Amino acid sequence: MKAEAIAVQTLSPAWRELLDAASQARERAYAPYSRFAVGAAVRAAGGKVYTGSNVENASSGLTVCAERVAIWQAVAAGEREFTALAVITEPGATPCGACRQVMIEFAAGLPILVADTAGHAWLTDLQTLLPDAFPRVVYGAASE
Ligand code: THU
Repeated sequence: MKAEAIAVQTLSPAWRELLDAASQARERAYAPYSRFAVGAAVRAAGGKVYTGSNVENASSGLTVCAERVAIWQAVAAGEREFTALAVITEPGATPCGACRQVMIEFAAGLPILVADTAGHAWLTDLQTLLPDAFPRVVYGAASE
C-alpha cells in the first residue's frame, strides 16, 4: 500500500470499534479451501455497523468476499449511505476489484481502513482504490 502504516493502538475510537467488529467477523470466516480468513465491517450513515466474512464454496466461483457480505447485509437492512469500512486479513490485503465496484455503488469517497493481524493499519479511500469507476449514473439510478 502507498499509504503509511498506522499502529492500530493509535487509531481513533470510531476506527477501533469498526476494526474490532471486522476482526470478530473474521473469526467467523468460512474459508476451508483457501484458509484465507477475511473480516469486514461497514458503518452506515446513522452509525450502525454491519459485518461480513468471506464465505467460500466447493464450487469456487460462488465464493463471496467479506466486504460484499458486509455491504449486502447493510443494504438488505435498508441502509443506502456509508461513512467508513474496515477490512482485516493476516497480511493486510486491500479489497478486491469486485468489492470496490460494489462499494462505489453506495459510497464514492468511502474512507477505508485496511488492517493486518499484527497491529498495523493503512488508511485509504475508495476514490484512491478505484479511480475512474464505471458510474451508476449511466442508468439514472443516482436518486434511488
Ligand atoms: N477475499 C475476500 O473476502 N475479500 C477480498 O477483497 C479478496 C478475497 C476472500 C475470497 C476467498 O474466500 C479468499 O479471500 C481467498 O481469495
